[in-house]
Amino acid sequence: MLTLTNFWLLILTVGSLESSVTSETIKNDEMKLFEERLPRRGGLFHTCFSNEYAEEGSSSCMPRSKCVSQGGNVKGFCNFYEVCCETKVDCNSITKEKRVVIKSASLQKTPNFCSYRMQPFNTQVCQVLIEFKTLELQPPILEAMQSSLECEDHVVIGDFMLCGENSGQHLYVPFDGSKDDTELIIKFALPNKWSQSQWHLIVTQLECPKTSEDKKRSPSYMPFINSNNLDNLRTMFTIPYNSNNKNTLGDIDLLAPLGCNQYFTQSEGQIKSFNYKPDGSGYYLSKMNYVICIKPVKAAKMIRYQVEKFSLSKQNTEEPGFDNNCHSYKQVDGDDRREDYLMIPQSSLTTNGTIIMATHYCGQSLVKGSSVIASPPYVLYFSSDGHSDAEESGFLINYSFKII
Ligand SMILES: *[C@@H]1O[C@H](CO)[C@@H](O)[C@H](O)[C@H]1NC(C)=O
Ligand SMILES: *[C@@H]1O[C@H](CO)[C@@H](O)[C@H](O)[C@H]1NC(C)=O
Repeated sequence: MLTLTNFWLLILTVGSLESSVTSETIKNDEMKLFEERLPRRGGLFHTCFSNEYAEEGSSSCMPRSKCVSQGGNVKGFCNFYEVCCETKVDCNSITKEKRVVIKSASLQKTPNFCSYRMQPFNTQVCQVLIEFKTLELQPPILEAMQSSLECEDHVVIGDFMLCGENSGQHLYVPFDGSKDDTELIIKFALPNKWSQSQWHLIVTQLECPKTSEDKKRSPSYMPFINSNNLDNLRTMFTIPYNSNNKNTLGDIDLLAPLGCNQYFTQSEGQIKSFNYKPDGSGYYLSKMNYVICIKPVKAAKMIRYQVEKFSLSKQNTEEPGFDNNCHSYKQVDGDDRREDYLMIPQSSLTTNGTIIMATHYCGQSLVKGSSVIASPPYVLYFSSDGHSDAEESGFLINYSFKII
């Protein structure tokens, strides 16, 4: 009788004829990968681009021969006929893969301008997630005289220009796969070729749901920029959407609500500013304005932020650093605008036994151990102006949910 194990050995042996690897090696490596996954996924195959496996790199499902011919690495099976193929892309290349790994080569081999161009994997793609396993570039230079902070070697991804230390961060970028000319370009500019530069990014094209019914539903998980419909917000922020009809759902579990530049999906974690360094020697970048979102936990009604580090600049050093002290309600021209803040809607801070109900936090109004409670939707807005100084070492904040 052909048992399942024998069947697999057969497939693996046939597979090995295409490459020079022996079936024994494949058995050891791939079966191991494979077996490790069985209990977790509760099935024979794993989804190549699932977030769970991000640690191990990233991959798309394709025939083994195609993978080998495009220089990819085989990483286990995704169905009876196809393997998960990890693809790496080089500077100045174009890719249409679902998921690719972008890794820096040696600095001598890297040109001063290095772009990676992503084109839609299919028409359903509506977002791109870029995970920075490693992203270390030249630190920004603080010009104390001009109160300015400049990135020299840097990377541009969508609206973000980043430099310095950003390993462990991620970004979501909107991407319209239904348009022919859609392209996301990740552009490295390295005029100084800073010697410790390195990057290892995982870029995943995320698909929105397919059926017309699901398409009608799509505005409900993209709620807070164009709509203040409370029902939409509730749907998005309280119920993890689920259906048995998985094929039409795209990557619904991984998609961020529209307007979120960062999206944290774990029930607890740490959020930090760009170019944050634990020793306080990194400064957040200037003229940033972005939205951080956290996926709700069903049983929780509140989120708790616990501050590890918080240091922003503020307009008036005498004031404590809340609300009006953090931003101007009037449009101010050019560099006079002082708008460094972390905005936490619907939040309350308990400090010295007093409860402060603030929305904007700046200066040193949060200290190590400060606990801020907020209700849904779980969103943080970060804003920085064009003025920089040594106070601007940024924030490191833990979050967890308060189950009531
Ligand atoms: C809390 O109390 C201490 C001691 O009175 C004071 O130095 C500190 O500024 C207070 N913190 C806030 C945020 O009011
Ligand atoms: C934040 O989380 C880290 C890692 O889990 C922990 O070591 C640290 O004590 C936490 N900080 C606060 C203020 O809760």
